[in-house]
Amino acid sequence: MNHLITFMLMICSLTATAQQKTTEQEQQKQHTEKHRPQFHFSPPANWMNDPNGMVYHKGVYHLFYQYYPDSTVWGPMHWAHATSKDLVSWENKPTALFPDSLGYIFSGSAVVDSLNTTGFAKNGEIPLVAIFTHHSPKPELEKIKKNQYQSLAYSLDDGDTWTKYEGNPVLNNPGIIDFRDPKVMWHEASKKWIMTLATKDRITFYSSPNLKEWAKESEFGAELGAHGGVWECPDLFPLDLNGKKVWVLLVSINPGAPNGGSGTQYFTGSFDGKTFVPESEETKFIDYGTDNYAGITWSNTGDRKVFLGWMNNWQYANVVPTTAWRGAATLPRDLKLVQVDGKTYLSSTPVKELDKITKSAYKKSNVSLAKEVDLSKYIANAKGQFKVDLSFDEAESFSITLSNKLGQQLIVGYDKEAKQYYIDRTQAGQSKFEAGFAKKHLAPRISQDKQIKLSLIADVASVELFADNGLTVMTDVFFPEETISNLKVASPKNKKLSEINVSRIESIYK
Ligand code: FRU
Repeated sequence: MNHLITFMLMICSLTATAQQKTTEQEQQKQHTEKHRPQFHFSPPANWMNDPNGMVYHKGVYHLFYQYYPDSTVWGPMHWAHATSKDLVSWENKPTALFPDSLGYIFSGSAVVDSLNTTGFAKNGEIPLVAIFTHHSPKPELEKIKKNQYQSLAYSLDDGDTWTKYEGNPVLNNPGIIDFRDPKVMWHEASKKWIMTLATKDRITFYSSPNLKEWAKESEFGAELGAHGGVWECPDLFPLDLNGKKVWVLLVSINPGAPNGGSGTQYFTGSFDGKTFVPESEETKFIDYGTDNYAGITWSNTGDRKVFLGWMNNWQYANVVPTTAWRGAATLPRDLKLVQVDGKTYLSSTPVKELDKITKSAYKKSNVSLAKEVDLSKYIANAKGQFKVDLSFDEAESFSITLSNKLGQQLIVGYDKEAKQYYIDRTQAGQSKFEAGFAKKHLAPRISQDKQIKLSLIADVASVELFADNGLTVMTDVFFPEETISNLKVASPKNKKLSEINVSRIESIYK
């Protein structure tokens, strides 16, 4: 009998080890699939869109995201969950929120309710509260434009498990077809929660003492900003500008972005707990590439504001040529305010935590640009994962060409006459999946500096351009059929590169 038990235990343990091995092998396989981002967050499998519920709590960055576990195309939305201690490597957690009788779980935010205003904590825990849109698929509700409303879920174990509030929904729909994506923050001056909600073609602000009862405060934007599509996924937060508090309002729009499809515009101004007053009529975009959408910032990070977007575009998100998964996040970015010619702009720069996986391969000052500068050998073993920092001595036109053995090439550059940066992905690899994909995208140069400094970050299937310290940003995905192995810089009129720094970026997968 004892032998039999020992034998059974042995079999069990062998099976467990074999299972563990298979999971490890599967994970390994997942991370080596064609086009799999190596240092951007992407779901292990299946569909991902907007980042949701981003909250920093007890040293952990929580990232929830729009997720459909049954397919690689959009479907009934869940909130998947991943966590990170450094914004670089991510641990996948069990799915946090599942669709229920009130509908799918659309986008939203999460806050730390340290004062227990909700009363969800019974034994001194600190509740994490998610505020999200329930989207009902019932046609009769859609007919009367009441199929989207706001609900709550809370966690009393630091985000591990979530309970939906029995009083859901907490904010009913007054009859607006697009009524969604609540971003909630604590407004210290008025000691109230403020919900910034996308309501079709404008933003509506609501306030609440306890996250459960909401009162409408004001509307913003029906006549301001870009209106080529529906407004979605807003965010509202203050940033310091030379000792002054300036409020930033992010509003995603789909379609109607400068280079087509989805994009994120922003406004700067003041907010008194009731009304947002813009300080300018200008329409500005946080990113002029085609692949940064629905981005918002982490809550509870103090003065630091870290932004993350969905690295995709609704124009082709459902058909991009990846197999086991679809969708990824942009790099996390620090947001700051900068003044240029008396106007206020947002700058985004990759978080400094990325330095941990960034290994310098080549550094040189004062390089002549009389001929094309070939940097290919410094990225030869980089598997398409690298960063190049360049300083041009003058703001003359230039081009940076990334190419592979098949001759597929992506060109990032600056056109002095037009005062525009660009990313040209017309010949960058697979593009047949969508007619508008193979295009050249343009972005205004905002900076008036004499020199141009930039950082270009390439992962297996994306590039992110941070020009002029993040004043002009472009994020584009692309699908080369071989790894990028050549990197060349050319600039007919510039005399020299005052600084070159090429680095390899390590994979976040073991
Ligand atoms: C933005 C968006 C949101 C919505 C979610 C649905 O990409 O359309 O407005 O909540 O995606 O998945």
